[in-house]
Amino acid sequence: MDIKTIGVIGAGQMGNGIAHVMALAGYDVRLNDISRDMLDKALDAIDKNMDRQVSRGKISEEECKAALARIVPTMSVEETAATDLVIEAATEQETVKQKIFDSLLPHLLPHTILTSNTSSISITRLASRTDRPEKFLGFHFMNPVPVMQLVELIRGIATDEPTYKACLAVVDNLGKTAASAEDFPAFIVNRILVPMINEAVYTLYEGVGNVRSIDMAMKLGANHPMGPLELADFIGLDTCLAIMNVLHDGLADTKYRPCPLLTKYVEAGWLGRKTRRGFYDYRGEEPVPTR
Ligand code: CAA
Repeated sequence: MDIKTIGVIGAGQMGNGIAHVMALAGYDVRLNDISRDMLDKALDAIDKNMDRQVSRGKISEEECKAALARIVPTMSVEETAATDLVIEAATEQETVKQKIFDSLLPHLLPHTILTSNTSSISITRLASRTDRPEKFLGFHFMNPVPVMQLVELIRGIATDEPTYKACLAVVDNLGKTAASAEDFPAFIVNRILVPMINEAVYTLYEGVGNVRSIDMAMKLGANHPMGPLELADFIGLDTCLAIMNVLHDGLADTKYRPCPLLTKYVEAGWLGRKTRRGFYDYRGEEPVPTR
């Protein structure tokens, strides 16, 4: 099937990144959020990120302008649902996602493919509450979306082949690479990455190293582009905790228990870069470790 219009639900860091790459690839995007302020912030972020690509010669001024014109911010669920492909990229809470799908269902077109950018929740379970489990897929981008090459595609138990192929074609059009993952908790990337981050928080909690030494060790000792605690702040500590809980509940193995210190940071509302405080404090000129 030929996908031309894409509805993106949620204008946070993943939603705005997805809108960005889809618009650059020529898709008409309706970017939806319940908050006008979030939509304004998202358009601002897209503008800045595309400008950066222009100044580094990755895209032309004309491509940037044309792409920005293809993104329509909207608070209307009806408008967002009446598209060829919907990508839900709201907060990583199953009840929130379920409510969103419930509100979309009456307004979807008969052929609309419904997807979720969930980083860990069961695609089969999310799909089962909808009227189209065969047209439901996990469409999981990595952050920052404009930079990262990978998209995980996750079939639920009922997902049909035309749906998978249509989404694979979209990934190809974006110039990205798809990895096919089975529908088990946290799929591939987060099954491996987030327990590593959780282990880094345990390393901090047990006093093996401080924030700076842990990050430096993994950057210089394992050639990671970011240290695990810096990366946790970048992903969002609430998201990291939510993924650990999904792994812990879904696989019933104590090796996935979230570190109490990670829980404490989330309880404090220190969620990382988005709240300007996490394992680092971002409120000054330079990030300062909080431990
Ligand atoms: N939009 C557009 N371009 C961006 C961008 C954005 N939001 N952020 C960075 N860039 C571009 C820059 O323009 C730059 O481009 P050039 O190479 O053409 O110059 C390039 O990315 C590198 O950026 P910087 O020089 O500013 O910074 P850097 O070299 O420190 O790299 C980084 C930044 C790409 C984020 C790098 O630190 C990195 O790869 N970090 C790890 C990211 C990662 O692991 N992501 C996965 C997280 S897990 C996930 O997302 C799954 C989940 O569900 C939780």
